[in-house]
Amino acid sequence: MTTATKVFDVAAIRQDFPILHQEIHGHPLVYLDNAASAQKPRQVIDAISRFYQTDYSNIHRGVHALSERSTKRYEEARIKVQKFINAPSAREIIFVRGTTEAINMVAQTYGRKNIGRGDEILITALEHHSNIVPWQMLCEETGAKLRVIPVDDRGDVSNFDVHANTKLIAVAHISNVLGTVLPIREIVRRANGVPVLVDGAQAVPHMKVDVEALGCDFYCFSSHKLFGPTGLGVLYGKTALLEKMPPYQGGGDMIASVTFEKTTYNTLPFKFEAGTPDIAGVVGLGAAIDYVEQIGIENIEVYEAELLEYATRELSQVKGLRIVGTANHKAGVISFVLEGIHPHDVGTILDRQGIAVRTGHHCAQPLMDRFGVPATTRASLAFYNTKEEIDALVRGLAKVKEIFD
Ligand code: ALA
Repeated sequence: MTTATKVFDVAAIRQDFPILHQEIHGHPLVYLDNAASAQKPRQVIDAISRFYQTDYSNIHRGVHALSERSTKRYEEARIKVQKFINAPSAREIIFVRGTTEAINMVAQTYGRKNIGRGDEILITALEHHSNIVPWQMLCEETGAKLRVIPVDDRGDVSNFDVHANTKLIAVAHISNVLGTVLPIREIVRRANGVPVLVDGAQAVPHMKVDVEALGCDFYCFSSHKLFGPTGLGVLYGKTALLEKMPPYQGGGDMIASVTFEKTTYNTLPFKFEAGTPDIAGVVGLGAAIDYVEQIGIENIEVYEAELLEYATRELSQVKGLRIVGTANHKAGVISFVLEGIHPHDVGTILDRQGIAVRTGHHCAQPLMDRFGVPATTRASLAFYNTKEEIDALVRGLAKVKEIFD
C-alpha cells in the first residue's frame, strides 16, 4: 500500500504487486496458489535491489563500512521478526532455509539429544510431509515411535492424551490442505509441559501470531509465503531449549574458538547459523514484514475471512463440487473435488483461463488417504485477491464441466 493509511484498499494493494498485472493464455492472471508461495510487492523487490546496490557485504566479519552496514541491516531484520511474532528475545530467532529446514533442525538437534528408544513423538493426521518425514527419520534412527492424532470429517483435530513417554508434539498452525486453524493454546495446555513445535508456514501470512501468548516451544515459518524472498525461513525457539541444543551444522560464524583439539560454539542465535546466510533475503524479509505491518495483519485477517466466506458460498453452489475441509475455524484455503473430473484436469483447464491453483496431494499424502481422495484442487487466498477473482474461478469451473460433459 503506497499510503500510510490502515484503510484496506485492495485495488491500491494490487498496484504494489507487479506480477499480478499480466495475461496468461490471453486472460488476466488470477493467482490463487498463495499457500504454495505468495507473490512479492515492489517494496520487497526494491529493498533487495537497493541493498545489493548500496549496502551489501558479508556480515559479522568485517570492520569495514559495508560489512557494518550489512550486519546492521541483517540484525535489524531479526528484530523485526522478533517483534512480528512477539518473541521475548532476538536471540531466539534463527534464520534457516525455510520451514522444512527449521523442522529438520529441531529433529536433528533437540530430537537426537532428547528422544530415544521407546519415546513417542505426537503429530496430527493433517501434517505436511515436512512435519512428518523428519520425525520418521528420527524414529528410524532412535527407535522412537510416531503417534498420530486423528482428524474428523470436517478437518478438526481430535483431543489427545499425553503419555509419560511423549517427548515432543509437532503440529501445524493451519493445515495447507484443509485450512483448519488448530487451537495451539489448547494443544500447549494439554501438552502439560511436553515441548510443542508449531509449523506456522500457513499461519504467519494470514493471522497475528504471538508465540508468547501461544506458549509453544518452537515456531517455524517461511519467508516466501510471507511475501518475502524464497530460500529463507525462521525458527523461533525458547532460549532454555536452544541453549541446550547442539549445533545443527558446523562452519564459520557459529564458533567462539576453534583449535584442532576442540571447538567452542558461539552464543545464540549464531550457534545455529553456520556459513554465510542469505543476507539480502533476510533484508527482503524485513521489508516484507514492514509491508504487512503497514497494511495491518488484523486488517488482512478480516478481509481474508470475508473473501473465504464468499468463496465458500460461491463454490458450494457449483454442482458436483465438494469442499474437503469444513472446520469451523478456517483460513483462506479451499480444497475441493469435482465429481468425475481429476484435479489435474481441473487445474490444467483453469490454467488455460489464466487461473493458477494447485492440484495434487499438496505434500500431505496421509491426509489424502484419510479423506479417501487421491488429490484435490486447491484455491488458496491472499489479501490481494478479490471477489471478482473468485467469480472468475467459478466461471472457470463451469468451463471445466462443460468440457467434460
Ligand atoms: N507447502 C506448500 C503448499 O502447500 C508448498 O503448496
